[in-house]
Amino acid sequence: MAIIEVRNLHKRYGDTVAVHDVSFDVERGEIFGLLGPNGAGKTTTVETLEGLRRPDSGAVRVLGLDPQRDRVELRQRVGVQLQEGRLPERIKVWEALDLYASFYRQPADWRQLMADLGLSDKRDAAYGRLSGGQKQRLSVALALVGNPEVAILDELTTGLDPEARREVWHLIRAVRARGVTVVLVTHFMDEAERLCDRLAVLKAGRVVALDTPAALVAAVPARRGERPTLEDAFLSLTQEV
Ligand SMILES: Nc1ncnc2c1ncn2[C@@H]1O[C@H](COP(=O)(O)OP(=O)(O)O)[C@@H](O)[C@H]1O
Ligand SMILES: [Mg+2]
Repeated sequence: MAIIEVRNLHKRYGDTVAVHDVSFDVERGEIFGLLGPNGAGKTTTVETLEGLRRPDSGAVRVLGLDPQRDRVELRQRVGVQLQEGRLPERIKVWEALDLYASFYRQPADWRQLMADLGLSDKRDAAYGRLSGGQKQRLSVALALVGNPEVAILDELTTGLDPEARREVWHLIRAVRARGVTVVLVTHFMDEAERLCDRLAVLKAGRVVALDTPAALVAAVPARRGERPTLEDAFLSLTQEV
């Protein structure tokens, strides 16, 4: 059974159609990517999964539940990455973890999580003094501290340097290895290609392709004997020809 089902999702803000008929399933245990340019409707789509936005039409199910109606239950079972700057500058790493753990019925051992994410030596550091990579690691830790079955991570590596990005990729694979299903929103091709088992490519609120990164690349006609990349696949899917 699919762990997430999105069927004919529509969402508009006034005159702007943000999501125009999006459908996909996410299977248990996969890293599923939503890839698309800015404004494609990725964040709006995941916000409906998180129960933060009500669909205008269409149906969304997460763990068989309705994110609007079953918000309290889903909050316990779905980990959502905190957006940058949503923690007070002066809160210490351990305090943030301890606070978030208190929101859950069956929290993970945050000390272990802190160690797994390489944050133990930053335990007493204030959030505002962490590097970009450390902040991202903390936001992943906070998304996982409730022992979720699903983690939804939106633009996880935006603003990170290449080394920190690779570190975070490694971390996401470790999260999946714990049995957590991951929904990853990204506009980075390399990230999508390396990390995701399957990808939905979004353009202007529609899914224009949905497959493994390898199959998306294989569908691109070869030019002059060069091997196409995911970027070529993406451009051929998202640009007007
Ligand atoms: N709260 C909002 N009010 C009005 N328009 C919005 C709002 N949020 C997003 N939009 C618009 O909806 C479209 C999709 O946005 P979004 O879901 O954030 O896309 P993405 O995450 O792919 O960049 C964009 O045109 C954006 O400007
Ligand atoms: Mg977005």
